[in-house]
Order: sequence, then structure tokens, then C-alpha cells
Amino acid sequence: MDLTPDAMLAALAWQIELGADEAIGDDFIDRTLVVEKPPEPARKIPAKAAKPAPPRADVSGCADLPSLRAAMAAFAHPLQEGTRNCVFADGNPAAKVMIIGEAPGRDEDIQGLPFVGRSGQLLDRMLTAIGLSRTAEEPEKAVYITNILPWRPPANRTPSVDESQAFLPFVSKHVELIDPAFIVTMGNASTKTLLDTTTGIMKLRGKWAEIDIGGRPRPVLPMLHPAYLLRQTMDKHKAWHDLLVLQARLEN
Ligand code: URA
Repeated sequence: MDLTPDAMLAALAWQIELGADEAIGDDFIDRTLVVEKPPEPARKIPAKAAKPAPPRADVSGCADLPSLRAAMAAFAHPLQEGTRNCVFADGNPAAKVMIIGEAPGRDEDIQGLPFVGRSGQLLDRMLTAIGLSRTAEEPEKAVYITNILPWRPPANRTPSVDESQAFLPFVSKHVELIDPAFIVTMGNASTKTLLDTTTGIMKLRGKWAEIDIGGRPRPVLPMLHPAYLLRQTMDKHKAWHDLLVLQARLEN
């Protein structure tokens, strides 16, 4: 395009008026020769594979402990993958106290029983200190122990809220079948799941709460998890206080 000097000066004055009063590149670009590229057609992004809906626990046919155990073992949940055993429960089903922990660890997965590793051994010593045991025959001196999850989470990670919720119908049915006088929730995860709260264990521990399971209000005592006490030994006095709270209620 040929422009006369007057036309070039007019074009320059017009650009200055618009605010283009500075050269920003060393090389001259004749924009009249730059060919505009047509816009690229929109890329098709493949639709994300839909996440399969989590399985739903069905406890309608669970009228006793063996049928509940069988239903839990048959429950096709991804957490089951790579585990060795469905960790159901231990202790005396007639016990007045039902302890509910979080999930099996390595030792529990190997042996198929809850709380048999280092933290379980500490739990047994804590219970002995107030005259309770998982092997006692008298209901007043016995405990029954289970977990929210029957499967060991990969690398012992804390179960997600969704995972805990998926197993809650089994836990509720378990409580109904055992019908304990008192429930003890061990640690943060099981306390939050059962009490349906976001309040942490440090605020809740050692104080009686209540949950409705199977149409009946049930006293619940949250306690510090023995695995936590193995790491934070200076908090053992708090656990001792909470054990005495349980003992006092059992003796009344
Ligand atoms: N921690 C738990 O919460 N449960 C077990 O069975 C073992 C460790």
C-alpha cells in the first residue's frame, strides 16, 4: 500500500492521538502484510469416565453376628483390595462395653482381629487397669471390640469420610446386635463418624455423649486412641482420667 507523505503524517498523528506514542519493538512490522491465522478448531476433550457409584451396605438380612460378618465380608468396597482379612470383632458379645476403633492396621490385617498390634496391647493394659478385658466371661468385666472399617486402609492412612460413611450401616447394625450398655469410641476418626460431628477428640474425650442407634439413645464415651498415646506419652494422664470416667459409670 503506497501512502503519500501527507497521508503517512496524518496516520502517525492519528496513532499518537490514540496513545500509541512509543515504539515497542526494534523491527518494523508491516501489519498490512501479516496474514491472520484462522482460529484453530476447538479441541475435543474426551469426557471423564464417570466415577462408579460407591456400593451401598445392605444390612436388611443381618439378624445375628454371623450374618452381619458374612454381609461385611461380601460387601464389594474398593478398600478390600490388597487386604488379607475382614477384621470383624473380638471379645465377649455379652459385654456391657463395646469399643469402636478406626480401622485395622498391619497386625490386625494379618491376624484378622481388631487391636492386636502395639496399640492393641496398650489398649489391653489400659482396660486391665480398670478391671476390664476382652477375654472376661462376666459381661460386667468384659469388652467387645470392633472398628468402623473392617479392611486395612492402604499404608494405614486415615479413612476418608466417604469410606467411614459407607461402613456406618454395618457399625450401627453391629451396635444393635450387641446392644451394649456403653460405647467407647477410640480416637478422632471413629468419634467423628459415630457422633456425626466435626469437633475434634481433644474437646470430646472423657465426656459422655449420646447417639441414637436402632431407635434407642446410647451413651458414648470418646477416648484418646492408644496409637496416639504411644506417640504422645505425656497425654497418658488424660487417658487415665477417661478410663476412670468409664469405670465410675460401670460401677453405678
Ligand atoms: N487401630 C484401630 O483403630 N483399630 C485397630 O484394630 C487397630 C489399630
